[in-house]
Amino acid sequence: MLTYENYIESTEALRNRIGGRSPHTLLILGSGLGYLADEIEDAAVIPYGELPHFPVSTAPDHKGRFVCGRLGGAEVLAMQGRFHLYEGYSAQQAAYPVRVARLLGVSSLLVTNACGGVNRAFHVGDLMLITDHLKLFDPTPLSGPNDERFGPRFPDMTYAYDPAYQEVARRKAQALSVTLREGIYCFFPGPQFETPAEVRAARLLGASAVGMSTVPEVIAANHCGIRVLGFSLVTNMAAGVLPQRLSGTDVTAAAEKAKHGFGTLVRACLADMKE
Ligand code: HPA
Repeated sequence: MLTYENYIESTEALRNRIGGRSPHTLLILGSGLGYLADEIEDAAVIPYGELPHFPVSTAPDHKGRFVCGRLGGAEVLAMQGRFHLYEGYSAQQAAYPVRVARLLGVSSLLVTNACGGVNRAFHVGDLMLITDHLKLFDPTPLSGPNDERFGPRFPDMTYAYDPAYQEVARRKAQALSVTLREGIYCFFPGPQFETPAEVRAARLLGASAVGMSTVPEVIAANHCGIRVLGFSLVTNMAAGVLPQRLSGTDVTAAAEKAKHGFGTLVRACLADMKE
């Protein structure tokens, strides 16, 4: 059980390490996008392991550190590596950095991930603007006693993905001639990929994509008043959509291939998330 004092201690340690920087946006870099953190100017680099109470990420291709500085004309706190439930972390631990970022003064979140395409019109390499999510049965970061200092007991999720930020994304995608799909992201905890039956169920419920991250962070962000913009990169068609097996290696390879287009859109959006 993480206490408010834990969050404060992590925040103070992070504040000391970022010097006078005051990030506006928390940028969570999913599979393949980690390279964007290397493009941050005037960067302060802080491995999670050097902050008190911080979980350490173990997923492949996830470095496990904050990089704070300027990207796309915005002050960002980027996460190279995040915490997944499949690593054994609780939903509260997965969302830990979001609350720390809030205490640091961050007011927006740009979150990215790799996903399996559920919508049959999608293709590997497509980018999807997340318009909403489904998380039916798994734990939420808000279970247990509520701390009003972060937010209310029953937070509203009507605009979990900020409508004005969605407009920013559409506008930027159009200006960059990037095809941007839209849809609902359905959370599964993993690490096993979904079964074809689960993917069919997700589709029947309206999902366009399935994935193993993002939703814990988005719930915690909404709880504490952070506005969210979310993007998914379709690294594979979800199980059963095509008559073939899925592999983690294919996911990584597809993320690698699409990362530059994805990164360009992310940078462009950051500039307009200031208000
Ligand atoms: N399912 C869940 N998570 C994923 C997938 C998938 O098919 N692809 C990339 N992340």
